[in-house]
Amino acid sequence: MQTRFDDLRQFIAQAEELGEVEHITGADPYLEIGALFAINGQGPNPKLLLFDEIKGYPKGFRICTNVIASKARGRMAQNIPVDLEGKELEAFLTKRMDEKRPVPPEYVETAPILDNVLEGDRVDLSIFPAPTWHELDGGPYVGCCSAVITRDPYNGFVNIGSYRSQLFDRNHVGLHTAHGHHGQIIRDHWFEQGLDCPVVISLGQEPSLLVASNSGEPWGVSELEMIGFIRGAPVPVIKGRVTDLPIPAGSEVVLEGFIMHPDHEPMRVEGAFGEASGYYSHIGGHAAPVVRVDAVYYRNDPIINGEPPYKGVSRDGSSIRSSAEIMRELKRAGFHDIRGVGNAGPFMVVSIHQMYAGHAKRVADFLMSGVNAAGQNRPPRMLVLVDDDIDPNDAREVFWAISSRIDPAESVHIYRNMWIGPTAPRPTPQQKEVPLEHGLTLSSMLIDATRPFAWKDEFPPVNDLSPSLRQKMIDKWEFLTRNGSVGRDVRRGATTANLRDAM
Ligand SMILES: Cc1cc2nc3c(=O)[nH]c(=O)nc-3n(C[C@H](O)[C@H](O)[C@H](O)COP(=O)(O)O)c2cc1C
Repeated sequence: MQTRFDDLRQFIAQAEELGEVEHITGADPYLEIGALFAINGQGPNPKLLLFDEIKGYPKGFRICTNVIASKARGRMAQNIPVDLEGKELEAFLTKRMDEKRPVPPEYVETAPILDNVLEGDRVDLSIFPAPTWHELDGGPYVGCCSAVITRDPYNGFVNIGSYRSQLFDRNHVGLHTAHGHHGQIIRDHWFEQGLDCPVVISLGQEPSLLVASNSGEPWGVSELEMIGFIRGAPVPVIKGRVTDLPIPAGSEVVLEGFIMHPDHEPMRVEGAFGEASGYYSHIGGHAAPVVRVDAVYYRNDPIINGEPPYKGVSRDGSSIRSSAEIMRELKRAGFHDIRGVGNAGPFMVVSIHQMYAGHAKRVADFLMSGVNAAGQNRPPRMLVLVDDDIDPNDAREVFWAISSRIDPAESVHIYRNMWIGPTAPRPTPQQKEVPLEHGLTLSSMLIDATRPFAWKDEFPPVNDLSPSLRQKMIDKWEFLTRNGSVGRDVRRGATTANLRDAM
């Protein structure tokens, strides 16, 4: 199966061949498209939804959603063979990470994105369908799964991140760059010199670029170059007419302009918006710098990709990659005997074979610094350490270890003033009075559910079968295999309940 694509429409064609595309006509961008995205996304194996003849917009101005939400499409976007599992998958990802190196984009002269170009006074963003995605959103969002390209004015590296864009008027959109994200830091490097920040916002692009946008490479490393390696070919780009920034040649719609310094154009109210935390934040919105759009490029019959956050909807299909990357970061930092990482999100579980007193806590301190930037930008809100007999992806085992191996007074550690998302629900109303642009901090929690190292050999033995007795019984008593009593994991006889499903 093809896993490298020139553009979004080629990717959709492949998904169509797999029977994974649902065509929808006549949907209303006000709440209906968002609702269909959410209901589809909350179900098992969501289809890719392709909306046309959107209410109020001409035929051909399309929106697609849930693009990499199935296993097959997630793998396609990351150039991972669809049939790889278990050890083979781990070996594939490890080899790829070992070999990973920058492959710079390739400049081309002609490109599909040049089908239509509007500059200056001709810019009119109202031609593009802009859904109001959630019921309490402050307005329509034309960008909700964009690849946003900026260049740092000091060291010159080109960054990509995905940041949402509220539609303000004919030639202005918002751009929500959370504090600490490289997009915000680069913007403020321009602002601190009194300059506007050049920006390119791609609103529909070949899905590996979404993976790149969300990959959180370390500072100074260009995701645009790294994704060239992952997809196995440089990303073709053209030079922007207004900013000189690279524009992906196969994109569907691109806005080019400047994030305006607040002294040059006043900030506007952005949001509220349904956030990735699963909550709305800042009802009534918050003040944020605006983007002035000086040029618009779009293909004939453009397809905008929209992937708003919704409780219970997975948008990025990249969790396998993130867990493997965190394992990799731990090994690179010199931590040995890590057996697995479960659920590489705000709730993270790490399984470790303890070799000395303090070993497990050092691993936790490293993860809590948030330096494991690849695929997991922020520190976990809750980190659980378990011994190596616990599968970090099996919710039943993890909660059993927590409930049986900890003494809360000793085993729970609070890390204060941690870097968090600016839209996290938990800060108090008083804390949230700080201007959003300055950001917030909050505490994180470590639950050390490993057996205390000093007396781990005296810890009561687990009353499960020894692996040898288990295997002997399985070999002798055929009915155990026939009636399904034997799970995939013969070592413990466990069937794996995925931690993500339990959250
Ligand atoms: C579909 C999608 C939408 C996102 N929207 C935003 C957003 O509006 N603001 C934001 O700061 N991060 C958003 N993110 C997360 C960032 O794009 C991601 O953390 C990225 O790695 C940040 O990159 P940077 O550190 O290079 O800026 C989104 C991610 C996805 C997958």
